[in-house]
Order: sequence, then C-alpha cells, then structure tokens
Amino acid sequence: MEKRKDWMTNYLKDHNIALTGFMGAGKSTVAKTLSKIFGVKYIETDEMIVQKEGMTINEIFAKFGEPHFRNSETKILEELSETGGCVISCGGGTVMKDENVELLRKNGCIVLLTATPETILERVKDSDERPILKGHKDVDFIGALMEKRRESYENAADIIVPTDEKTIDEVCTDIVDALMDLEAGGDV
Ligand code: S3P
Repeated sequence: MEKRKDWMTNYLKDHNIALTGFMGAGKSTVAKTLSKIFGVKYIETDEMIVQKEGMTINEIFAKFGEPHFRNSETKILEELSETGGCVISCGGGTVMKDENVELLRKNGCIVLLTATPETILERVKDSDERPILKGHKDVDFIGALMEKRRESYENAADIIVPTDEKTIDEVCTDIVDALMDLEAGGDV
C-alpha cells in the first residue's frame, strides 16, 4: 500500500477523484474511506446541496422539483472543478448530464462503482432519503432504472469497479490499482 499511497498523494495534489454510480453503490462510504487513507477532503455533493438550500433532498424535490436539484448539482460541480485534492461522492444521477461529466473530468477522474440490483436493494431498503426510490424499493424498478442509466454511467467512467461481495478496503484497493494502471497507460 505504501507505493500506492505515494502515487495517490501525488495524484491528488492537483486532481479530484469523483465516485459515481447508482444509489447504494457505495459511493459515500468508499469516498470517506479513500479521503481518510490519503488525507484529503471528502465532499458529498448531496450534502453540499442540503447545506446550501437548508432543506433535505426530499424537501428540495417536493418543493422545487428535480430540475432545481439538478441545477444545484451542476453549480456545486462548477465550484469543485476549480480545485484538486478532493474525493467527491456524486449523487446517483449526476453523470446523466454531459455538462457535469465535463466538469468532473476537468481536473480529475471518474470512478464508476457498480452493484447488482439485488445488492442495491439490500443497501437502500432501510433508507427513506431518496425521492427517486420512493414507493419503488424493488429489484424490478432498480434494475430498469439502472439499465436506462447504464450507457451514461459507462461512457462517463474512466474506470469501473464492481462492489458486490467486496469489503470497503477491497474496493479502495481496486480503485487505486485501476487508477495507477490508467496512469501507466497515459490516460489520467
Ligand atoms: C439520485 C441519487 C441520490 C441523490 C438524489 C437523486 C439519483 O444520491 O442525489 O436523491 O438520481 O440517482 P445517492 O446516489 O448518493 O443516493
């Protein structure tokens, strides 16, 4: 891990790492862990929106609608595209918008975390904080929405890391290894 740590510390000096993927893919947990390991800032775009608006995500969707939430998301990414040194946990719908993908790529790489609809359901079933899943916490809905979003997720991603049946540490190690490989290929 020491060699990986040096490489990542250096990479993160002037880059961000953005984690994307479906709700419940593990973005927040993995982003928190990566930021702790490498001593950089952890940013959750949803949390920044909640703080700015002084409302929960559910309240923002109910009061102003999804387009308003999506605009707030883009504004946050505009700010973040001016800095490096952050591990960013994006909302599950962030990379559906090309403009957001461009902003995330401007000074960083995009890591897609994946999981099967069954795993996702298991991880989200006790949470009521996701308006998109309200009344739809079932494998069919999750699988269908995931399919609808798949192309955008995959096109946006610099690297793809499956998370099913892996520990958080294993996912973190896979991310760092994949990023180092990407760098060796000269693409980062
Ligand atoms: C959303 C995912 C949520 C949040 C909002 C919309 C989506 O974030 O941004 O509820 O469209 O997939 P998480 O993926 O962190 O749950």
